[in-house]
Parts: sequence; structure tokens; C-alpha cells
Amino acid sequence: MELSFAPMEGITYSGYRRIHAEIFPGADRYYAPFIAPDSTGRFKAGNLRDVLPENNEGIKLVPQLLCNAAEPFLAVARELEDLGYEEVNFNIGCPSGTVVAKHKGAGMLGDRRQLDDCLADIFSRCPLRVSVKTRLGLHSADEFPAILEVYRKYPLSRLIVHVRDRDGMYKSKPDVEAFAAALSCPFPVEYNGNTFTPADLAALRERYPNLNAAMLGRGAVTNPALFRELRGGTALTAGELENFHDRLVEEYLASGLAPNFTVSRMKELWFYQLCMFPGSERAGKAILKSRTLPDYRAAVSALFRNVELDPDAGFYK
Ligand SMILES: Cc1cc2nc3c(=O)[nH]c(=O)nc-3n(C[C@H](O)[C@H](O)[C@H](O)COP(=O)(O)O)c2cc1C
Repeated sequence: MELSFAPMEGITYSGYRRIHAEIFPGADRYYAPFIAPDSTGRFKAGNLRDVLPENNEGIKLVPQLLCNAAEPFLAVARELEDLGYEEVNFNIGCPSGTVVAKHKGAGMLGDRRQLDDCLADIFSRCPLRVSVKTRLGLHSADEFPAILEVYRKYPLSRLIVHVRDRDGMYKSKPDVEAFAAALSCPFPVEYNGNTFTPADLAALRERYPNLNAAMLGRGAVTNPALFRELRGGTALTAGELENFHDRLVEEYLASGLAPNFTVSRMKELWFYQLCMFPGSERAGKAILKSRTLPDYRAAVSALFRNVELDPDAGFYK
């Protein structure tokens, strides 16, 4: 089964992806966190650095765009084509209030006519293959069949379905049943939502024997060895996690990220990874409270010395 690493803004940037792929191979592809161009197609220099091929050696990367109009989408797609990319992913699922208020991300699901017009314009002119990452609806999964009718009109290279509506954010119960409607689409379909363990994946495969692709987000950020485990490999060890951690810190500092920003970036990760250290309340608090790099390093070292890793202990949901 194809397994991809979900885009995770604030976490899965190029340094993370490269080191993850090196230490924990097993993801068939990585999606970059979204690039959000302005109405003229301009976007942040950091977004460009994140997708430069030299910063993504050894991994298959699909850049992602968050916008709601063809012109900026196509302007960035052309730049990505110049960099050698063949596919771009369209984010039609971001649930953030500010994004939805601008009718972007999952906000595009509220007006299917506008969604249709936007896709028609993009698909008639985009030099790259376009895949879509969607939700089931804005307010309800009942919207999904009508949304699929729109997608079916276009030659999507892939449809990734996060099985919640926008209102469910990242918390509501994944609507695995509603996903079934996507499986009759004429393009490859990928499941996304709460695949945290080999048992989760097995249940999904049992329910949908013809499904051949799934995307992992929080599960893989919590347990970086999840791809290996889902493919029948061994469980994560504390030594591997510590090595992964140290390599990330080194990478962020070497890339020029200031020590305090490196600490912040790493704390985003601990928000998830601490779930694998039952009984780590004190040690975890010390990590999340630390501000300077020396304090942070001391707190992480104390966690690894004093608390046992249990990769099956749970996932941040
Ligand atoms: C912190 C965070 C950042 C995310 N950033 C993005 C993003 O940049 N683009 C995107 O399409 N989805 C983004 N997502 C959604 C994930 O890609 C994924 O769809 C979601 O976490 C559900 O999958 P999971 O249950 O495997 O985590 C983000 C989710 C989280 C929690």
C-alpha cells in the first residue's frame, strides 16, 4: 500500500523531511506544508527554500498551494515547473478560521459553483498534474457526494480525502463510511484521518480492500517510525528517537534558524511525541517551558534518561 507523509505546517519542513527519510525510510511521498501566494502569485521566500530540489534530495516531494483563484495558482505552478516539479497539490481542506473566512482551504467547499469555476480555469491551463486534498464538506459529510461531482469533472492526478467536515477541525470522529463514495472516482484516491497504528491501517484495509493509498499526519509526527511499523517492521526505540531529535536540532541550527526559534520548532514536535512517554508530565512540562537552547537540551536529556519510551502508549488526537 502506498503511504504518504501529510503536510504539517510548522513541522514537516525540508530539514525534517530529509532527516526523517534518511533515518526512517518508508514514506512513498511527502507533501510540503502549503504555500499561500497573494493575489499576484507572490509568496514567502521561506516557502521557496522549502521546496528547492537541493533541499529535498532523496525524497519524492509534492508542493501544495493554498489559494482560491486560478491566476496565483498558475503563477506558482509555473515556478514549480521551472524547478522540475510535475505535480502540485491543491489544499481544499484547511479548516483554520482565518483561511475559511477568506473562502480558501475548506472554505472553498461552501460554494461549489465557485469551486467548479476555479478548477475549470486551473485544469485548462496548469502545466503540472494537479492533485486535491479535500474534506468531506464545510458543515456536513452530506455535502460530499455533490463535492465529488465537481471533482469528477476534472482529471485530478489524485484525490486525498481527510474524512471530516471543516467544522470537525482535527477532532471529530473520522467519518470512514462517508469516504466510500470517493472510491468510485476515476482517479487514484487516498484516505486520510487518524491512522495511528498497524491495527488502524488493518481495519481500514479490511473495510476497503481496494484502497491502495493512505496519508499519515499526526501519527507519523508522533512516532516517526510509523511507516516502518505499518509495513511490518520493528517498533521505534528510544535511541532512534534521540538520534532523530539530535539530528533535527543540528539541522535547524546549521540552516541558520536562531537557537530560540529552533527550541520553538522542536517544542511543536514534543507536543505530539510526549504521548509516547507515559508518566512524563514533569519532564514534559520542563521541555515545553524551556526557552533557551541549553535549558531545552537539559530538559530533553532528562526525559530520555528518566522516562521510558512506549511507542504504543498513545497518539495526540
Ligand atoms: C499542525 C498541523 C499542520 C497542518 N498543516 C497542513 C498543511 O499545511 N496542509 C494540509 O493540507 N494539511 C495540513 N494539516 C492537516 C494534515 O495534513 C492531515 O490532513 C490531518 O492531520 C489529518 O491526518 P492525521 O489524522 O493522520 O493527522 C495540518 C494538520 C496539523 C495538525
